[in-house]
Amino acid sequence: MNLTNVNSPIKLENGVEIPCVGYGTFRTDPAVTARAVQDAIEAGYRHIDTARIYENEEGVGEGIRVSGVPREKLFVTSKLWNTDRGYEETKAAFQASLERLGLDYLDLYLIHWPANEKQFGDRAAQINADSWRAMEELYEAGRIRAIGLSNFMPHHVKKLMETARIKPMVDQIEVHPGWPHTDEIIKLQDMGILVEAWGPLGGQGSVVLQNPTMKKIAEAHGKSTAQVSLRWIIQQGVLPLPKSVHVERIRQNMDLFDFELSDDEMKEISSLSGLGGQCADPDDVDF
Ligand code: A2P
Repeated sequence: MNLTNVNSPIKLENGVEIPCVGYGTFRTDPAVTARAVQDAIEAGYRHIDTARIYENEEGVGEGIRVSGVPREKLFVTSKLWNTDRGYEETKAAFQASLERLGLDYLDLYLIHWPANEKQFGDRAAQINADSWRAMEELYEAGRIRAIGLSNFMPHHVKKLMETARIKPMVDQIEVHPGWPHTDEIIKLQDMGILVEAWGPLGGQGSVVLQNPTMKKIAEAHGKSTAQVSLRWIIQQGVLPLPKSVHVERIRQNMDLFDFELSDDEMKEISSLSGLGGQCADPDDVDF
């Protein structure tokens, strides 16, 4: 992969191109979302990631409109929330997301979390299959350019593939130093799925950015710990979705293409542990 800037394209299995860094909006206050998205687009991001549950889709849509950048130059993702699982429900939830965003298609739509056996017992797989069937139909009808998953571990993907007609193109999972998911990333990539990283800086109030190893490596490259974290993700062929509402950081989080981490640095970062983040196990969550 020859990535030279925040919008260098990565080709999904269906040929659709996705800019290699996305602007994340998880935990962005709805009241400031439009402004933040506009700032991000002005800074140069063309890939914006939101979700129904973030309650800021309206702000994302407004930021896009105000930016003046033509819709087709942007890559917009949203996600199906857990209370909307099921065939009919997925179609209705997709339409409602589009309306909140004020868009007439999405570039990418993801199932936000797998229905798990802890909550749904034997019905879990069928619920995921039903949601996916609706996603496939929306994709085939041209309403979404690519479809995928979020928080599905390789075993959830394999189960889904027993009934899926179309293979998911993307899986967005939590990835940051301290919660590296290294084996899962390799397994998903081996399936031809692009892995995206949510919480790539360790999330709100994380200690990733204060970690002494991260600081040492950052100093060696004249970069910030946030940039090292994002670069470590990119060098694994994973697409990071950093969130910030501050212009200075929004810019910093794009400036990742003038340095390279050595193999030893990559390994050192991957072996950090206990650095917080959400570290949610999709088989164990109760939502
Ligand atoms: P803020 O929006 O106030 O800048 P993640 O992307 O892992 O969810 O983490 C985002 C968290 O890290 C947010 O709390 C965000 O706060 C903060 N953040 C984003 N970019 C940077 C940066 N370059 N340096 C320090 N903190 C950052």
